[in-house]
Amino acid sequence: MGGKVSFPRINLDRDKTVVVTGGNTGIGYETAKWIAFLGAKVIIACRSEERANEAINKIKAEYQAEKERGTDGIIKDGDLNIEFMQLDLSSLKSTKRFIDAYKSSGRKLHVLICNAGIAMHEQAYTEDENELMFQVNYLSHLLITLHLIPVMKESGSDDCRIVLLSSAAHLMAAFDVTKIQGNHLSKDNFDRLKYYGNSKLYQIMQMYYMNRRLKDTNVSVLSIHPGIVETEIDRSFQDLGRWKVFFRMSKLFGFTKNPLEGAESSINAAINPDLKGTRDVYFQNCKASSTNSTARNMVNQETLLKFSLERLKDYLTEDIAKDWMPEIQI
Ligand SMILES: NC(=O)c1ccc[n+]([C@@H]2O[C@H](COP(=O)([O-])OP(=O)(O)OC[C@H]3O[C@@H](n4cnc5c(N)ncnc54)[C@H](OP(=O)(O)O)[C@@H]3O)[C@@H](O)[C@H]2O)c1
Repeated sequence: MGGKVSFPRINLDRDKTVVVTGGNTGIGYETAKWIAFLGAKVIIACRSEERANEAINKIKAEYQAEKERGTDGIIKDGDLNIEFMQLDLSSLKSTKRFIDAYKSSGRKLHVLICNAGIAMHEQAYTEDENELMFQVNYLSHLLITLHLIPVMKESGSDDCRIVLLSSAAHLMAAFDVTKIQGNHLSKDNFDRLKYYGNSKLYQIMQMYYMNRRLKDTNVSVLSIHPGIVETEIDRSFQDLGRWKVFFRMSKLFGFTKNPLEGAESSINAAINPDLKGTRDVYFQNCKASSTNSTARNMVNQETLLKFSLERLKDYLTEDIAKDWMPEIQI
């Protein structure tokens, strides 16, 4: 899995502004770090200020070490531009506070990397009465994109991107709008892998329904499967013995990636100039890969959008609700 880092080592415009959700650890940390090393302004949007500051200090220390080593491609002059903003995706109130703070800061936005996520969590519901993985992985990120796409459109750049961290787990998912919340299931019958996969399926469906509406704009949406990556992702399924064994065996047989290798597809999707205007691509190991027919089904996509807008209705402006109205009668 090792080998050469496979994203272009190019200096980025110092005004290019990139948000990485969950940039304090794992894949998000490496993504935020390398994009900052290449010169862009990076905002780590995560829930713990303490963890964010630890990450920022570590990134700065690693930058000094890379500079001393003479690492290719990283900026050599000036300081890294990297900041924290508070965001808890398990709360729509917190997510809206992040959006409002972002907009009122007057910052531009060129790349939004929806990276934060939780996997195979037990059945749980947020204060907004949504299934936890549905909200953290998909719905709250959708709210951010709906509000910040206008900021991207005003950015003055002809190349703005939204990168959605999905997963190959979407291939095991199913779409049934009446079962999105999983509240017809008891805790014991709640299939944690399937509901994780569902949340990742929704992100790919989001890519398709967004690109359909954004096709004549400067904003394009891409999605990613990072591989099996050794991060803190297993925090939420420590009690699932068979999955711990799966991760351990994957590592033993060399199928896992380290966080930097896991971040390569995200970084490449975010900054590779050859991908300007590229839409509807799901990357695995930086290469276009196939999504499943459920994800590509337009009726499913528009049905999901309608359901999602309903769940978000207290947090949308009339203009947003109108702009994103489902395109077909459902
Ligand atoms: N690792 C893999 O094998 C793998 C495979 C396929 C897809 N992915 C996807 O890759 C993405 C990154 O995962 P990772 O492996 O880097 O996992 P990780 O090390 O556990 O990092 C997850 C990040 O998400 C943040 N997060 C979790 N819940 C949040 C919330 N309510 N609000 C805001 N941030 C929250 C975490 O913040 P805290 O530190 O505060 O918890 C952390 O920054 C995820 O979307 C995951 O589904 C990973």
